Amino acid sequence: MRKQLQRKRKRLENLVRYLRSGLIVEFGCGSGFVLGFLSEVAADSHIIGVDRLPERLAAVSERGLHNVVTVCADIEDSIFPDGVFDTAVFINCLHEIFSERGREGVLGALRIASTVLRRGGVVLIQDYLKPEPQAIEVEFANKSLLERFMRFAKEFKPRQVNYEIEGSTAKLDVADAVEFITKHHAEGEEHWQEEMRESHLFFTEEDFRQALREAGFNVVAIERIKDAQAYREAVEGLKLKPPVEVEWVQVIGKKPGD
Ligand SMILES: C[S@@+](CC[C@H](N)C(=O)[O-])C[C@H]1O[C@@H](n2cnc3c(N)ncnc32)[C@H](O)[C@@H]1O
Repeated sequence: MRKQLQRKRKRLENLVRYLRSGLIVEFGCGSGFVLGFLSEVAADSHIIGVDRLPERLAAVSERGLHNVVTVCADIEDSIFPDGVFDTAVFINCLHEIFSERGREGVLGALRIASTVLRRGGVVLIQDYLKPEPQAIEVEFANKSLLERFMRFAKEFKPRQVNYEIEGSTAKLDVADAVEFITKHHAEGEEHWQEEMRESHLFFTEEDFRQALREAGFNVVAIERIKDAQAYREAVEGLKLKPPVEVEWVQVIGKKPGD
């Protein structure tokens, strides 16, 4: 767990050079790990964390961050006035919005970010990166792993998972193989069902570029983040041919006019 948090912090450090201090909002702040980081690196800024789950925000309060306040709201509630923020942040959040509300939901959230930013304000995004379509082979070292994959293919709701099996090898699209890797470790039925409703890999680089433009941003940077695994470890007994890593991306947009 500690290693995972260290990786998460390292991932966040990539954002610092793009951050504009002043008034900062994190949409989908959860229990406040990112707010803690922002509070430290932008110590003179005022930071607002937004999340719709009160229990997560209660955990933020316990962190006692000197320059952070939280608001319990859905992003779509549009609770802020126009043109007030210097930086808007979405970390590990847009894939949840996509899973629930599709591309339009993501566009809606980005448009709200654009509206509440000042001219020249920046949006900072980090999330999973969906690889470009490519047929790959996945070899399963044992029957239980193959059965777990077949259950995933049957129960995953966000998109249809097509595959062909020959012996202990499946041929399928790389995004579905990687999606399985990110969900394989789900513990217990409730967690598994939650994962089956959620798509981690939702946008390719080009999808992000297009969505940012449609939401009114200039694209400043789209960068792959190295060593950013957000799942626990590689799946033992699973071999991808060719080998593929689960990748994270950071996407930086700027509201024109400054
Ligand atoms: C995976 S957590 C990430 C938390 C935090 N950003 C981090 O990286 O540690 C995603 C958070 O987004 C919140 N969220 C998802 N959709 C939301 C929405 N439409 N409005 C407000 N919060 C939302 C969830 O409640 C959850 O706490």
